[in-house]
Amino acid sequence: MNPLQKILITGATGAIGGALAEAYAAPGVELYLHGRNEAALGSVAERCAALGADVICERLDIRDTPVLHAWLSTLGPLDLVIINAGMNSNIGPASEPEPWSEVEALLDVNLKAALLIAQTVLLPMRERGKGQIALVSSLAGYFGLPVTPAYCASKAGLKAYGEALRGWLGPEGIRVNVIMPGYVKSPMCDGMPGPKPFMWSPERAARTIKRGLARDKARISFPFPLNWGTWWLAVLPAAVSVRIVRWLGYGG
Ligand SMILES: NC(=O)c1ccc[n+]([C@@H]2O[C@H](COP(=O)([O-])OP(=O)(O)OC[C@H]3O[C@@H](n4cnc5c(N)ncnc54)[C@H](OP(=O)(O)O)[C@@H]3O)[C@@H](O)[C@H]2O)c1
Repeated sequence: MNPLQKILITGATGAIGGALAEAYAAPGVELYLHGRNEAALGSVAERCAALGADVICERLDIRDTPVLHAWLSTLGPLDLVIINAGMNSNIGPASEPEPWSEVEALLDVNLKAALLIAQTVLLPMRERGKGQIALVSSLAGYFGLPVTPAYCASKAGLKAYGEALRGWLGPEGIRVNVIMPGYVKSPMCDGMPGPKPFMWSPERAARTIKRGLARDKARISFPFPLNWGTWWLAVLPAAVSVRIVRWLGYGG
């Protein structure tokens, strides 16, 4: 019999996290699902249990780092951790600086909590010499979009962190992957300004992420045309890329 697979997904109450939870739910899987919204957490847990998984839920605000750390420290070695919880902000219709309270919350959720989760779960993984950590960045991490400066900064930071971790921990048998989705239908995506081409459903995104993680791809980025285009934004001279993003309608 295969040993029990222990999988943790943060932000499982959201669109991508919920679809990922269902994609991994199966007999022989112990699923740790995290979120804040009680009703959404209960509903995703029910769907995953119906698919045969053992489900353990945790409701907490990941900005509360002592509580977050204390919870993670009780879990022991996990096979897969998908660090997915995130939030967005933008410069709004009046093109104003994002409110500082929002920027701070965004950095706490997208970057600080994500790094704390990775740092905490990798300790038992290192002792065991195996495990997998996936960080959900974004195609917005390739080049800063004028409409969402803080979000792009956080996702670029997460991308760099994941790449560094992969280089550091790969030789020890720990796989680290950076996930860079394009537009995926979700409440967060609905709230983003600018055009949203090549939108995917959360279920399609979850299938692609699961396949990429099984293959241990360093970078799981999609969908193809947008992925290729945004990759070029990082390669071209910045002065050219800025003109392109403004021309495409992300100028604010
Ligand atoms: N959708 C897209 O187009 C897109 C594109 C690129 C990258 N991404 C990334 O994909 C990830 C998932 O996004 P999504 O589109 O699925 O958005 P979503 O449906 O709005 O889900 C966001 C998730 O993050 C959780 N979260 C936010 N702040 C939190 C906090 N302070 N404490 C605990 N949990 C918190 C939410 O929990 P509660 O609702 O329970 O509070 C929810 O589960 C994010 O990291 C996002 O940046 C999304």
